[in-house]
Amino acid sequence: MPSKLLSDPCNEKRPKRPYSLLQILLHWLVVILIFEQWYTSRAIPRTHNPLLPPSDADLLQHALHIYAGIVIGIVMALRRMLAYASYRRRPQIRPRLTERLASIVHGGLYFAVFFQAATGFVTTYLWGPARVFHAYLWDVILILASVHIAAAVYHLIRGDGVLRRMIPRFR
Ligand code: HEM
Ligand code: HEM
Repeated sequence: MPSKLLSDPCNEKRPKRPYSLLQILLHWLVVILIFEQWYTSRAIPRTHNPLLPPSDADLLQHALHIYAGIVIGIVMALRRMLAYASYRRRPQIRPRLTERLASIVHGGLYFAVFFQAATGFVTTYLWGPARVFHAYLWDVILILASVHIAAAVYHLIRGDGVLRRMIPRFR
């Protein structure tokens, strides 16, 4: 019997709740951590300033940026595997146009967030010039997240229940 956290009601053709509790919790964990990454990224140039010694708060934020960024990369890879496994278990039907558009944006978010973490890692430990890709990918994330959030607001206004799929239910 699968636990509540992993239960995946994907035997219906178009399930009303296609995400397990684990997928939902990881979605919101990444949203919070991405906001934190934006905030802590601003401390990094201050820690590299040759004229001013960095404050303890800036050093802490720099370290947080690196470790939380690595966590995001691992979580995104795990989420992709969970999404793929639940897709494989679902009866295959022809997707609607809106479902295709949503999966393009979701795929783009997976790609951009994962490689944002990967390029941050490469910049820090292997090859400094990769910082250019790290900066560009941030712009890609901002564009895709704006489209994604606009779609979420659209579904909220329509009241079609799509937003509810990402609201955790513990009972
Ligand atoms: C998905 C996770 C991550 C997000 C959303 C993120 C976001 C950002 C942003 C917005 C910036 C500022 C870019 C700019 O100059 O405009 C930045 C800079 C930076 N990030 Fe990340 N980051 C992530 C993961 C990581 C990881 C895993 C590392 C290292 C292991 C890292 C290391 C750095 C470094 C060193 C900089 C400064 C680059 C420079 O000197 O220009 N980041 N990050
Ligand atoms: C940068 C932040 C965000 C990222 C990277 C992100 C990423 C994703 C991804 C990859 C999915 C596909 C689900 C999966 O395969 O696990 C998804 C679904 C979803 N997200 Fe986000 N998301 C973000 C922010 C938000 C916000 C702020 C909201 C609400 C306002 C939201 C609402 C939803 C909803 C309702 C779904 C389910 C859509 C559906 O079933 O068609 N997301 N998100």
